[in-house]
Amino acid sequence: MIVAFFGTKGGTGTTTLAVNTAAEVFRLSRRPTVVVDAKPAPGDVAVFLGLRPRYTLIELIDQVGWTDAALAARFVAAHDCGIHVVAASQDFGRPSSRDAEGVEQTLQQLQTVYDTVVVDAGSSLTTSAKAVLTLADVVILVGNPDVPCLRNLQRLTDALRLAGVGGERIRIALNRLSDLGALPAAHIEKALSRPIDFQIGSDYRTAAAAVNAGVPVGALRPTDLHAQINAMARALLEPTPRPTAA
Ligand SMILES: Nc1ncnc2c1ncn2[C@@H]1O[C@H](COP(=O)(O)OP(=O)(O)OP(=O)(O)O)[C@@H](O)[C@H]1O
Ligand SMILES: [Mg+2]
Repeated sequence: MIVAFFGTKGGTGTTTLAVNTAAEVFRLSRRPTVVVDAKPAPGDVAVFLGLRPRYTLIELIDQVGWTDAALAARFVAAHDCGIHVVAASQDFGRPSSRDAEGVEQTLQQLQTVYDTVVVDAGSSLTTSAKAVLTLADVVILVGNPDVPCLRNLQRLTDALRLAGVGGERIRIALNRLSDLGALPAAHIEKALSRPIDFQIGSDYRTAAAAVNAGVPVGALRPTDLHAQINAMARALLEPTPRPTAA
């Protein structure tokens, strides 16, 4: 299964949710799980987990055609929590539009080794990001409860539908719902004429503590943030995707 996280604008929490959901999917399933940082450099997935990988997605793309899991293993970094990481490129602008096919093939090959491939696809709808989102089994659009995100959510779901990503594959995650001044979830659901699939409150203290320690939030003391990420991971592991009002 490929699960892509895509931000409805920068800074909404796409990396936070991608990394922590991947860790939680592994904690629950104990099945091989990798998180791929496909955001054009600089990406933060490896930093969030305190890793300094030798290789990045770009080197893995250059190896396209690999069939040997042992070879692939050379390009991933392992975190103590059990998940593997394919880090973002060090080169600004990569993956570029010319890498779209390579990104797609790399994700397909990773799927032969990993049960769950979680992708941080950033928040720019580049050719490469479109390739990721089109391939993904589930696309989670990460927004904050504010007017720009609401407007972008509407436009993005339309753009994705045109690109062939049907509404049944799209989920909406609203992050930082408890921030002061946040639009109420019911208001957003009404404007979008569809339910919000995942609601995540605001807890900067925990989110920052996890990054500072280079661990997922599940490794810290129990919090609502962890419980909400756990609910997201459980829903993804359910055998039949929950129908959405497309
Ligand atoms: N639920 C939350 N509560 C409080 N703070 C959060 C929450 N989720 C994320 N943050 C914080 O918000 C900031 C941005 O998060 P993150 O880097 O995950 O966003 P992003 O969408 O990946 O950003 P970018 O566009 O730079 O890639 C970080 O400081 C992070 O710790
Ligand atoms: Mg990010």
